[in-house]
Amino acid sequence: MPHFTINAGEPGPVIDRHIFGHFAEHLGRCIYDGLWVGESSPVPNVRGWRRDLVAALRQIRVPNLRWPGGCFADDYHWRDGIGPRAQRPRRINAHWGGVIEDNAVGTHEFLDLCAQLGCEPYLAGNVGSGAPRELREWVEYCNAAAGTLADERAAHGRREPWPIRLWGVGNENWACGGNMTAEHYANEYRRFATYARDFPSAPLYRIASGARNDDYHWTDVLMRAAFQTPIGGPLLQGLSLHYYTVPGGDWPPRHPATGFDSAGWKSVMALGWQMDRYVRGHCAVMDRYDPERRTALVVDEWGAWYAPEPGTNPGFLHQQQTIRDAVLAALTLNIFINHCERVRIANLAQIVNVLQAVALTEEGGGRLVLTPTWDVLAFYAAHQDARRLAVLGDAGTSRHEGLDYPNVSATASLAADGAVNVTLCNTDPAAPAEVTLALTGRAAVLADARVLATPVLTTCNTFDQPRAVTTRPLAGVSRHGDAVTLTLPPGSVAALRLAAG
Ligand code: AHR
Repeated sequence: MPHFTINAGEPGPVIDRHIFGHFAEHLGRCIYDGLWVGESSPVPNVRGWRRDLVAALRQIRVPNLRWPGGCFADDYHWRDGIGPRAQRPRRINAHWGGVIEDNAVGTHEFLDLCAQLGCEPYLAGNVGSGAPRELREWVEYCNAAAGTLADERAAHGRREPWPIRLWGVGNENWACGGNMTAEHYANEYRRFATYARDFPSAPLYRIASGARNDDYHWTDVLMRAAFQTPIGGPLLQGLSLHYYTVPGGDWPPRHPATGFDSAGWKSVMALGWQMDRYVRGHCAVMDRYDPERRTALVVDEWGAWYAPEPGTNPGFLHQQQTIRDAVLAALTLNIFINHCERVRIANLAQIVNVLQAVALTEEGGGRLVLTPTWDVLAFYAAHQDARRLAVLGDAGTSRHEGLDYPNVSATASLAADGAVNVTLCNTDPAAPAEVTLALTGRAAVLADARVLATPVLTTCNTFDQPRAVTTRPLAGVSRHGDAVTLTLPPGSVAALRLAAG
């Protein structure tokens, strides 16, 4: 029987709440007809933002939200999205379906959404088709207390600066963000980051557009440009990494989100766990230049990517979800927690109706459904800003197409109130996992144990059956001295809370 020991006597680093961040792009039905319904919609809303969705997102304590892209960011000019809505330009969203972007949602609207969610905004600036001046002025428009741009902001309804800390400097500039080489982008980064200025009340946290998958060369070039030059280091607070789990490794994705077989399940587990290899690889490069870990690794796009849902616009990247995605989310978040000394921000792609969303909304309608990934984020909210606890032991590994992944993955943290929170997942689609957890260094009592599981792994939450896959109390947890024994159903995620005893 797999045995894990949690050392609660020596709390480790803080698990930054921003690891549990999200991403909202002007893509498909993420913003429009997803989060945003408009003020005149019959769907209940607060200043245009969908009320039930905001409430569901507040429940999982969204810590930050990245916007407006993605690939859209390097084609977005922020001035298109300010001023009276009727006068805003209508552009073509060239990346995502060629639909008309009427700019109804711009800076003021998005920052109102963040205020409603109680989360920190993360704005992605345009490097690919923009200019340093444009980014400089966007920062000033948001963050300056005085001056012409502050006056313009006030004229549009916002007198006080917001102020915005998190700024991305481009997105995927090796592809949709300008097809640049690492060397070219590194120079562009330095130029753009120089003019994205700190204001007294708002020192910036600048995030460079980083590598994809295992492109360690990109990371090496960016870190060298930042740390081996007289001016670079203070300009680079974060360097991003993008990795999507695409079963079969195909591009474009051709595997369906549902209706998978055992190989489809294992492919997601094995390829999902590759995130561990990539994070380790990029951290090793960063350690060479920055052993004090001043620059964070920011995994600002991650999640499962399947073939578009039949009957939907392929440019909208709409997909359903199953417990397979929930287990992938747990595995991935465990990786980030295990590397939280360096991984301090991450963003699941994307928050609603696109890719591995936590919620789906009815097209043109009022119904809302939460996905199994929402339940995982609800479990993991307990780890936000808690201190990581070492979890020793393992349950062995499985192998699929030459890639190993853990049979059971577990993380634990110590909360401010003294409680120990443990999250576990069983990656085996067919067999339950009986697990023993021993706690050392602290007395605790089992306060809660819940599990996210379903007898049929391909079950989805639908508008007609919105909670077909949901959490329930985990039955049969037994206690022997300082240890608890529990059984994880096949393909499941569980969360335990051990209150200070
Ligand atoms: O999340 C969808 C797209 O995936 C983003 O726009 C882009 O950055 C990535 O390739």
